[in-house]
Amino acid sequence: MTPQPDNPTGFWESRAVARFNERLLEAVGGSWDRPPTTSPDWAASPDLDERRRELVALLASVRSDAAGCHAVKDPRLAITLPLWRQVAPPEMVIVAIREPLAVCQSLHRRNGIPFERGAELWLRYVRGAIDDHELPTVIVDYADLMSRPRDVVRDLASVLALRQPDRAVYSTIGEFLDPSLNHADPDGGVGSPMLDRARACFAALRMMPVSTDGPAGVRMVSRDAGGHEVAPSAESDTDSSRKEDEMSVTPTHPLEAVQEYLQGGFAQVDGWCVPQLWQSIQPIDEVQRRNGIGGPIAEIGVYHGKFFIGLLKTKQQVDNYAIDVFSMQRFNLDGAGAGNQETLKANIALSDISVGDVHFLEADSMALTSSDLQEIRATSGGFSMFSVDGCHTVEHTINDVRIAMDLTRPGGVIFVDDYYNASWPGVQEGICKLYLTDSPRFVPLIATCNKLILCHLSYHAEFLSHVKNFFKSNFDDTRVKPVRRFGYDTLTIVPNLQTGAFLAL
Ligand SMILES: C[S@@+](CC[C@H](N)C(=O)[O-])C[C@H]1O[C@@H](n2cnc3c(N)ncnc32)[C@H](O)[C@@H]1O
Repeated sequence: MTPQPDNPTGFWESRAVARFNERLLEAVGGSWDRPPTTSPDWAASPDLDERRRELVALLASVRSDAAGCHAVKDPRLAITLPLWRQVAPPEMVIVAIREPLAVCQSLHRRNGIPFERGAELWLRYVRGAIDDHELPTVIVDYADLMSRPRDVVRDLASVLALRQPDRAVYSTIGEFLDPSLNHADPDGGVGSPMLDRARACFAALRMMPVSTDGPAGVRMVSRDAGGHEVAPSAESDTDSSRKEDEMSVTPTHPLEAVQEYLQGGFAQVDGWCVPQLWQSIQPIDEVQRRNGIGGPIAEIGVYHGKFFIGLLKTKQQVDNYAIDVFSMQRFNLDGAGAGNQETLKANIALSDISVGDVHFLEADSMALTSSDLQEIRATSGGFSMFSVDGCHTVEHTINDVRIAMDLTRPGGVIFVDDYYNASWPGVQEGICKLYLTDSPRFVPLIATCNKLILCHLSYHAEFLSHVKNFFKSNFDDTRVKPVRRFGYDTLTIVPNLQTGAFLAL
C-alpha cells in the first residue's frame, strides 16, 4: 500500500491482502469501518467457497520456500481471521494496540468517523484480534515500539524464535520509526462513554503479563510503564555467541551512546559546552520518550559540533540540521568562533554518526527566508531539540529564537546559549524583549550550564515535575533551585563541574 499524507512512512501492508479482505467483508455484508454482524461459525458457510479458493491462490502467489516464516499484516484480519485460519492456520497472532483516543482522532481526521463510533471500532477490532480465537497471542503497545524499538523488536524476535536483529536491522528500524507521526492530542474525546470503555480495555491489556516464553495464552511481549519492565529473553543460556552479539548491539540504556561520547570524543571536539549539561537533558529526553516525541535536532551556530554531536547521539534521528555561516564569516558579526564545515563533518564521522544524517546549511540565520524555513520544516517534520548558539546580538537572538520556536515540535525543547554570559549581554536583552513584548508559546523551563532551556507551554508542567523528581533521586552535588522567570516556574540547576556525573545510567 502506498504511503498517504496521514501515514507518510507507509502502511507496510499488502494491497492484495487488503483487497481480498475487503471482498471477504463485503461477501458477509460489511466493510472495514462497518464490521459485519455474523454468527460464530460464519466462516464455515459454503457461500464462501469461492473466497477460500481465492485465498489459497493468493497465499500460493506470495509464499516463498526460502522464507522460514511468513507474516501477514492487515488490521482487517481482526475480523476475517476465522476464514484465514481454515486455509493457513497461524502459529501466532501479534496484535499491535494503540491508545484508543489516538486511534479515534486518527479515524476522525482521516475518515470523518465520530469518536463514539471510532471507539466502538477499536473495541470490535481488539476483540476480534485477541478474544475471538484461542491462538497464542502477543500484544505490542505502539507507544513502547516508538519509545523503545530495540527492546520490542528484540523481544518479538525471541517470541518468534527468529535470529536476533543485527546492527543494520536496528538502524533501519531507527530510521523508519518516527514518533512525530504519532498525532494524538491528549485533550480530545472528553465525555465519550464508548471511548471510556475502550480506554479501560486498553488499560487492562497493558496489565497483561509480560513474557517472551513459550507460545501460549495472551501476553504482552514487552512493556515500559515508566519502570522499564521488559521480559527476559527466551534464548537459551548456552547460546552465548548470540547473546554476546545481542549485547554488543543493544545498549542497556538509550543514552549509553551519549555517555560514551561525553567520556571520550567530547574532549577532542573544540567548542563551548560542558558534559554536565546532560544531567538536565536526560530527564527532558525521558519525558519526550514516554510521550513518543521524537524528531531530529537542529543548531544555529554549530561550529565544530561539540554540543550538536551530543544531541545527535541523544535523539539518534535522521534529517538533522547544522546551520552556520561556515565559510561566509563576514556575516559572523561578533566573531564568537568561526564555524568550519569540514572540521564539523570530520568530528561527526569520528563520533560514529553518519554524515548523511545531517543537512549542512551554510547560511546567515538572519537571511533565512520563510520558504527556507518551510523547506526545513517539511524535511525535518519539526525538531525535538533546537540549539541557538550563533551570533549574540539582540537582533540575532530574537531572530534565531523565533526560528527555533517556529521549527520545534510542541514536545520539543530549545537551548539558548550564553543567556547569563556577561560577555554576550545581547542574548539576555533579546530574550527579555521577546518575553516582555510578546507571549511566545515556548517558555523558560531551566537555566543551567550557560544555557536557558525553553519548552512549549503545553508540556511545561510535565517537564518541570519530571526534572524535579529526577534530580531528587540523582546527582547529590547538583544544586536545584526553583525560581520564577517571566512569570513561569523554572529551575536553576548548577551541577558540580569538577566532580559532577554526566548522566544517571
Ligand atoms: C560560539 S560558536 C558555537 C559553538 C557551538 N555551539 C559548540 O557547541 O561549541 C558560534 C558559531 O556561530 C556561527 N555564526 C555566527 N554568526 C552567525 C550567523 N549570523 N548565522 C549563522 N551562524 C552564525 C559562527 O560561525 C560559529 O560557528
